[in-house]
Amino acid sequence: MSHEQLPTDRPAVVTVGLPYANGDLHVGHLRGYVDGDLYARALRRIGQQTAFVCGSDMHGTPVAVNAAERDVDPEAFALEWHEQYRDRFPEFNVEFDYYGHTHEETNIDLTQEFVRSWLDGGYIVEDEIEVAWDTELDEPLPDRYVEGTCPYCGAEARGDECDEGCQRHLEPGEIEEPRSVRTGNPAEYRTREHKFLRLSEFQEYLQSFIDRVEGTDNARNQPREWIEGELQDLCITRDMDWGVDYPNGDGEELVLYVWVDAPIEYVAATKQYTERVGTDTYDWEAAWKPGGESRHGMTFEEDWQAESGEIIHIIGRDIIQHHCVFWPAMLRGAGYNEPRAVLATGFVNIDGDALSTSRNRAVWAREYLDAGFHPDLFRYYITTGSGLSNDVDFSWDRFAERVNGELVGNLGNFCYRALLFAARNYDGTPETTVSDEIHGQIEDAVESFETAVQAYDVRTIGQVAVDLADVGNEYIQRNEPWNLVGSEPDRAAQVIRDCIQLTRACAVLMQPVMPEKAQRLWEQLGESGSVAEAGLDAAHSPPPETFGEPTELFEQVESDTVEALTEQLRERVTATGDEERDADSAESDEETVTADLDPVETDRIGFEQFQELDMRVGEIREAEPIEGADDLVRLEVDIGVDRRQVVAGIKQLHDTDTLPGTRVVLLANMERAELFGYESDGMVLAAGEEADLLTTHADAPLGSRIR
Ligand code: MSP
Ligand code: ZN
Repeated sequence: MSHEQLPTDRPAVVTVGLPYANGDLHVGHLRGYVDGDLYARALRRIGQQTAFVCGSDMHGTPVAVNAAERDVDPEAFALEWHEQYRDRFPEFNVEFDYYGHTHEETNIDLTQEFVRSWLDGGYIVEDEIEVAWDTELDEPLPDRYVEGTCPYCGAEARGDECDEGCQRHLEPGEIEEPRSVRTGNPAEYRTREHKFLRLSEFQEYLQSFIDRVEGTDNARNQPREWIEGELQDLCITRDMDWGVDYPNGDGEELVLYVWVDAPIEYVAATKQYTERVGTDTYDWEAAWKPGGESRHGMTFEEDWQAESGEIIHIIGRDIIQHHCVFWPAMLRGAGYNEPRAVLATGFVNIDGDALSTSRNRAVWAREYLDAGFHPDLFRYYITTGSGLSNDVDFSWDRFAERVNGELVGNLGNFCYRALLFAARNYDGTPETTVSDEIHGQIEDAVESFETAVQAYDVRTIGQVAVDLADVGNEYIQRNEPWNLVGSEPDRAAQVIRDCIQLTRACAVLMQPVMPEKAQRLWEQLGESGSVAEAGLDAAHSPPPETFGEPTELFEQVESDTVEALTEQLRERVTATGDEERDADSAESDEETVTADLDPVETDRIGFEQFQELDMRVGEIREAEPIEGADDLVRLEVDIGVDRRQVVAGIKQLHDTDTLPGTRVVLLANMERAELFGYESDGMVLAAGEEADLLTTHADAPLGSRIR
């Protein structure tokens, strides 16, 4: 079954993974929230009724452990963070229709209702299992209270998740060599009675769900492997005080596992949104329940035809299993609608390494704002830095480079030039119609925006206005209106009229990614209303006749600011001991090395895609350090068919004098780049932090292709 094209006449709900209310937000978290906000705005732009909801995840050991470390009550601790998040999101122009938290009554009630439905449906069983126990304290050790070895991949893991290895969810009792986080002692296993959701009952359902759910490929491919074998039942209770009570007074000392009440907040927050605005504005049941009813007792035929809202979840790639296996089964078991799409984003890395809060290798949300940058710049950077499911690197250098090049130099520059010229020479929009050429260009941009929304292609949605400004810059440069005003006034008016229309289209198309900047541009074009409310058609409609001189939309990021911020990050990481630890682990400690490795990409590529990489055996002929650059060396690499100049970031890691004569592997069809004034025509492949150069081991002739 394929889904009806968006926009549909049913309500959509866009959700983002709930942040645990247990610490500062960093740029990694922000990626999902900004992606979600952009996508919700884009959906509205194409005319889809949309609620954008989220809330803080208050329960479970992620909160309890951190609160206990500070010796405070988990509720007060979580509420404090919740309030911070609630206020922080708007500072990044992330505007939820409802931002709640999982400890609110609506969520607690709804969660217990879900569990009662599962009980009624016969989906819950009781079983005795072995749980980790701290013998010194004589207390159970649920989830994050225990650490040990992942039974699937051998990585160091937490009680309920292999967070640094294979990313699997772990059931109580599964972790090997358990250790208590509280005392550091080896933990014992003890028998306890717990409640389980019978996932095995949903196996067939999940297999069909996975085939029809839309979104990113990783959200479909990763779970396939998990739902092929027999599905293990999900333990839904924990020996803890902090959480939602198991309903009906049964299992009194038990609370529900945090992953039960957390996703239900998606529904609870939508419900609370409806309670605030009324069902005429947004009907949560039309989104979540089939025809406002329940899927229980429906025949297959009825089920098929029952109407569903468009439920779209945006999450990080670490929580795919929860959203594509557990959650659909939970919804199904309670008679609710299933997600239409799951979009699993890649992670945000910092300066090429994994973000790690414990090592202070993070750029914090607060820090970004304190540096005085506009939120829309970050939004643009993070949504367009890579395809949605790929990791994206955050570095201040790259941030400055992209802001200065793409926003200041391209988009901002084009709009400013067009508006200034129009204001000075025509007091606004010249009186003529848009040329066919430019009309066609705008039409293409609008179409690629619409297609991208259908395809959940967040990056293209974020990029389309900047690409259109590129067209504009090329057009204005080619036509040189400043040389035409005197000699060919009609031509000049035509060119400027076109540029004003392009500017207007940019304002309309950039609104989801840079809402505040779009509104400013809209006002510079003489508009008084809201660009968010002007539909996509506004890209083609004529701008007001008069407007005044513009101001620059974006400001250049200065290089000393970048240097200061980079240094600040480096110092912080060093102070936390990251650099020393890296050095140690490189020497001997293999276990730490393994834990530091990135997990293998879950997205597979086809052989054809691999073949697009033209990799050749080469030999370095010359090598010289580039003056003024900390890391760069200029290499001349002989690849048999050609000799290439390559700039490589290996100055600190290799002695330049010894490089000539070294056999290397060169990616020969790498995009050309210019670094410190030198063209780099290819890329030398190397492994790891120490740039261990790749080579061949027999005598493959220079220029041989790597296959
Ligand atoms: N509370 C759970 C989610 C429950 S959803 C029903 C959780 N919380 S979290 O605070 O750890 O993460 C919140 C969101 O941020 C998740 O979607 C997670 O995948 C995402 N990210 C956390 N760190 C991230 C990066 N470094 N990079 C990108 N996204 C990351 O998981
Ligand atoms: Zn693992």
